[in-house]
Amino acid sequence: MNMIAAMAGITDSNFLKQYMKDNIDIITLGGYSCDNETYNAARKIVDRGRCEFIVKPEDLADHINCEVNKLRNYKPKWKGKICANIRATNPESFKNLDNCNVDIIEVNAHCRQPEMIKAKTGQTLLGDIKRLEAIIEYVCDNLKCELSLKMRANVDNIDTIEIIEMLESYPIQYIHIDAMKPGVMMADLDIINTISNITSKHLIGNNSVKTHKDYINMINSGADSVSIARAAVNCDIDEIFRIS
Ligand SMILES: Cc1cc2nc3c(=O)[nH]c(=O)nc-3n(C[C@H](O)[C@H](O)[C@H](O)COP(=O)(O)O)c2cc1C
Repeated sequence: MNMIAAMAGITDSNFLKQYMKDNIDIITLGGYSCDNETYNAARKIVDRGRCEFIVKPEDLADHINCEVNKLRNYKPKWKGKICANIRATNPESFKNLDNCNVDIIEVNAHCRQPEMIKAKTGQTLLGDIKRLEAIIEYVCDNLKCELSLKMRANVDNIDTIEIIEMLESYPIQYIHIDAMKPGVMMADLDIINTISNITSKHLIGNNSVKTHKDYINMINSGADSVSIARAAVNCDIDEIFRIS
């Protein structure tokens, strides 16, 4: 499957409409902040000039539902899934999303802006596996949609394999890996290969896919699906996702 990944401040319904096409299977709204800590962090990021989606946590479910309705009404025949990427600090933060009508909720253990790290969300969750596990347990027990965990590989002092193994005992459907490697401008295909060999989950490979060759390399390394973010802004995605 082919996916458009989250880009905070960019991937709203207006942006995503162009990707409701036969060669795209999942489009992602967000990232959104679903509690006061992450909301305040997002506001601080905006204050220093970066784009973010600023929606109050108590209004988030209604906002997402409205975005989903706009998309579905725009192209009722499109059969793909709509995902929402969510930043949270605690399991209970996801209470705000009980009534969301998205197909997939993606727990964000990925963002690493200083404000998000200070709020103890995003990538910070990778270093606090008990809290991450409590969040995964909560969303599995309480949300009715499919679930994904988005995380970065090759983070200092983080045992990626331990996290992948922890996820194995929960009924989440997707593991979405940003296979970045510090100092390298291409995805770490070895880590995709390693993860694909130890997980039964649907593995979405991400990072620096800009050409059809990058896409094929990601698939050949064991990814079940491939996601792109920056290339959705400035590359020919029909060429990237072409059937060869
Ligand atoms: C402007 C921008 C905003 C992003 N916001 C988010 C986000 O809110 N949540 C998230 O999980 N990833 C976010 N990402 C990361 C992307 O989803 C993706 O993992 C990363 O850019 C690497 O993939 P790419 O090489 O295809 O761009 C963002 C990336 C960019 C460029």
